[in-house]
Amino acid sequence: MNRYDIARIPGDGIGPEIIREGVKVLEAAAAVYGFELKWNDYPFGADCYLKTGEALPDAALDEMRQMNAIYFGAAGDPRVAPGVLEVGLILKMRFALDQYINLRPCKLYPNVETPLKRTGPIEIWCVRENLEDFYNGLGAIVRANGDPEQKKLVRMELDRALYHASFDMDAKLGADDDYALGLGIITRKNTERTMRYSFELARAKGKKKVTAVDKANVIPHMYGLWREVFEDVAKDYPDIAHENNFADACNMWFVKNPEAYDVVVFPNLMGDIVTDLGAIITGGLGFAAGGNINPEGVSMFEPIHGSAPKYKGLDVINPIATILAGGLMLEAIGERDAGALVERAVSEALASGMIKTRDMGGTTKCSETGDIVAAKIRELGR
Ligand code: IPM
Ligand code: MN
Repeated sequence: MNRYDIARIPGDGIGPEIIREGVKVLEAAAAVYGFELKWNDYPFGADCYLKTGEALPDAALDEMRQMNAIYFGAAGDPRVAPGVLEVGLILKMRFALDQYINLRPCKLYPNVETPLKRTGPIEIWCVRENLEDFYNGLGAIVRANGDPEQKKLVRMELDRALYHASFDMDAKLGADDDYALGLGIITRKNTERTMRYSFELARAKGKKKVTAVDKANVIPHMYGLWREVFEDVAKDYPDIAHENNFADACNMWFVKNPEAYDVVVFPNLMGDIVTDLGAIITGGLGFAAGGNINPEGVSMFEPIHGSAPKYKGLDVINPIATILAGGLMLEAIGERDAGALVERAVSEALASGMIKTRDMGGTTKCSETGDIVAAKIRELGR
């Protein structure tokens, strides 16, 4: 019997409730296909941080490197300043484990309402680059009345960095004004593997087209390289069409014409923003699963929503995003059929009309939703 070691991190707020339902469903799928999931529990989240001062200790990270995957609920709690757990836990996992893909399928399931007028099928495979762009935290705030030494140093670095740029720095950075800068980085190596993943995904899912999103018209260096690599990689996939979108236009077409998209690949920050839009046009965050994927390493699976502290313990949250994220996890660890069964069970359970969670305007509990999907898995697996 195949056995998989999974790190389980329920986290904060409604995290424990949704992970419980996810585990229920994944166990049902494991029973159908005859493999074992060994859950290794970690208490990370606000309580743990407040007790120990650490969001994610390196020793735990090293343990997780030896596992098959990580199943994560949500982080965020009013007792901890915003950003602390986001950076210290979520981004730390993504960065330390080199999870360069953030896969966010946006699919409209039966009986799920979209705020769009149209009702055609929507299935967009969003691939968000997960490590670069503006997510590295590099930058500085320079105060007009701050440390003169810092002002001089930052200015020197800027002059050096912009040696070849025609930009009137003196006019821009008046001595009596505060200023701030943030540094985005795009590398060829990482962009290339992201693009390759996107084209391979299109092939694997039987899709016809990959769309690369950017703002190369106003941020020409970073997204110029992004486009260049996209074109290079596209040459290896003559069977898949490819096109570019500017992010602002992409936003608009997600609403106007979502069925025109197959696989869409985004730089990190734009991907963060547009995938929330992708979620809402396919029923909301309650249905939006995410996989932080390192195809050669350890991947982490989570719903893309947060910890919703005000709903904690009420058993009213929609666990489907977490269940679907679990399905992506099974696929990633090599149990493809079991992963597909989870997705099919969600789809058929929704089609049956038995699930109408609070976000869908109904009263089906979080725990009932997990029971229904797990029962559907056992029924389909017979
Ligand atoms: C997401 C979240 C995170 C992100 C935050 C919590 C760091 O918004 O997963 O989309 O910006 O990536
Ligand atoms: Mn986000």
